[in-house]
Amino acid sequence: MESLDDAGVYKLTDDLAIIQTVDFFTPIVDNPYDFGQIAAANALSDVYAMGGKPLTAMNIVCFPAKKLDISVLKDILKGGIDKMMEAGVTLVGGHSIDDAELKYGLSVTGVVDPRNMVTNAGAKAGDKLILTKPLGTGIIGTALKAGKASKELVVRVTKYMTTLNKKASVLMREVGVHACTDITGFGFLGHACQLAENSGVGIKVNSTSVPVFPEVEDFIKRALIPGGLNRNREFYSKNIKFSKQVPDYLRDVLFDPQTSGGLLISITPDKAALLLDKLKKAVIPEAAIVGEIVSKHAGKIIVD
Ligand code: CO
Ligand code: CO
Ligand code: CO
Repeated sequence: MESLDDAGVYKLTDDLAIIQTVDFFTPIVDNPYDFGQIAAANALSDVYAMGGKPLTAMNIVCFPAKKLDISVLKDILKGGIDKMMEAGVTLVGGHSIDDAELKYGLSVTGVVDPRNMVTNAGAKAGDKLILTKPLGTGIIGTALKAGKASKELVVRVTKYMTTLNKKASVLMREVGVHACTDITGFGFLGHACQLAENSGVGIKVNSTSVPVFPEVEDFIKRALIPGGLNRNREFYSKNIKFSKQVPDYLRDVLFDPQTSGGLLISITPDKAALLLDKLKKAVIPEAAIVGEIVSKHAGKIIVD
C-alpha cells in the first residue's frame, strides 16, 4: 500500500494492515527518564495519527559506555517501558551499540483497518483544522541547551512531550475525521503543507488562534533558534504566504521542528466543535481550531 505519511502501511487482508514506524534522536532534556518517555511518546505518534493501534515496539540504543554511567541508560529505558505500558504496547526486543553520542528511540508496529485508516490525504474544502498541542518545543529545547530555560518551563514542556496522542487519536476515530497528521520535525507549516499537497487542497491558518508556549517569543528575540527551524523555512516558504500583520516571531514558531507534537486534524465544520470539546476535556485544554481547508491554491497555505 502506498504510504502518504512518515509511517509505512502494509495491507495483510481487506480489513487488516500493519503500520510500521521508527524514530530516534539525541537527548532533548537532561533527565534520562523523561527523555525515555518523550522518545517513546514520539515514536508512537505516527501510529496514532493514522488512527491505528500500536501493538509492539523495539528499542534502538546508541550509548557511549565509556563516557556515561550505565544507570543513565537504565533510566532512559525505564522511561520508554513505562510509556509503552501506558500505551498498552509490548516491548519485544531491541538493539544497542556503543556510540560516541547518546541516541534513543523505538520502532513501533501497529494495526489498522485499511478501510478506516486516517491519512494526510483526505482533507476536504470547508473542513476545520484542529491542533492538539501547543508549538515551540524545538525553540525551548534550544533555550534549554543554552541554559536559558527555567526549571518550571522544562517541567511544563516535558509534560506535553510525554503526553501520548492516544486519547486524541481514539476521540478523532470516535467522532470521525477526514485527515490527520502529527506535527514533528517539519514543524506546523511543513506538515500542514504535506497535508494540503496530498489532499489537493489549500489551507488558511488563523495564526492568532494557534496555541504556542508563551516563552518562545522572548527566546526567538534572543536568537535561540534551532537549525531545523531555518531548514524548514527554506524548504517550505515557497508554499506559504503570510499576511503583513503576522509578527516575525510567530512565523518562526510555525516553522519550529516539534518533538512529540500534537495531531493536526481535518474535520467537517459541523463536527469540529464536538471533537474540540472532547479533546479539551480529555487531553489538552489548549487544543484549538487553527484554520480551515479551502478549495483554492492547492498545496499552498495562507497565514492570516
Ligand atoms: Co516517524
Ligand atoms: Co508523523
Ligand atoms: Co539484533
